[in-house]
Amino acid sequence: AADVSSDLTEVLVTEEEIRAKLDEIAAQVDADYADEDLLLVGVLKGAVMVMADFSRALTKHITMDWMAVSSYGAGTKSSGVVQIRKDLDTDILGKHVLIVEDIIDSGLTLSWLLENFAARGAASVEVFALLRKPEAAKVEVHCKYVGFDIPTEFVVGYGLDYAEKYRNLRDVAVLAPHVYS
Ligand code: PRP
Ligand code: MN
Ligand code: MG
Repeated sequence: AADVSSDLTEVLVTEEEIRAKLDEIAAQVDADYADEDLLLVGVLKGAVMVMADFSRALTKHITMDWMAVSSYGAGTKSSGVVQIRKDLDTDILGKHVLIVEDIIDSGLTLSWLLENFAARGAASVEVFALLRKPEAAKVEVHCKYVGFDIPTEFVVGYGLDYAEKYRNLRDVAVLAPHVYS
């Protein structure tokens, strides 16, 4: 594999820390949804890794759907304009939905999604975000399950990209400024 270590300044969350956190949150979700059917909705493409690992950390049987939205394009800042690139295949009317996200940055993507899902008549909609940048929030998003609060730095890996690169790194790491400036 290509060595991208010079593109990164530090590892913020290791693969092992992610694994342990997913087990912890999966146990909570197993308990919280013990009496309900649960639909996990992954937000493509960033949530691919967390969805794959989190869904298998659950004991519960779930169903899975995906939505592709994008607000970043190739830049490092959210445009605030959310585009649907792929809609759900499922009708979520009356269903209990848990949105699975890799990161809440400005919050714009999720606040838009939450409004969108509420309008479709879901029985409940909650959010699990592996990462959250509290100091970058432009809108408040109610997120029931959060993995790690992190500083406002541009991070990549474990699904998170810069210009579509670095998604397959196993850890979450800070991108060196020379890569994007
Ligand atoms: C990233 C990330 C979240 C969103 C968070 O997705 O995966 O979905 O931005 O940012 P926000 O809180 O400021 O809205 P992106 O739009 O880059 O698409 P991608 O998942 O395909 O990389
Ligand atoms: Mn995303
Ligand atoms: Mg992205």
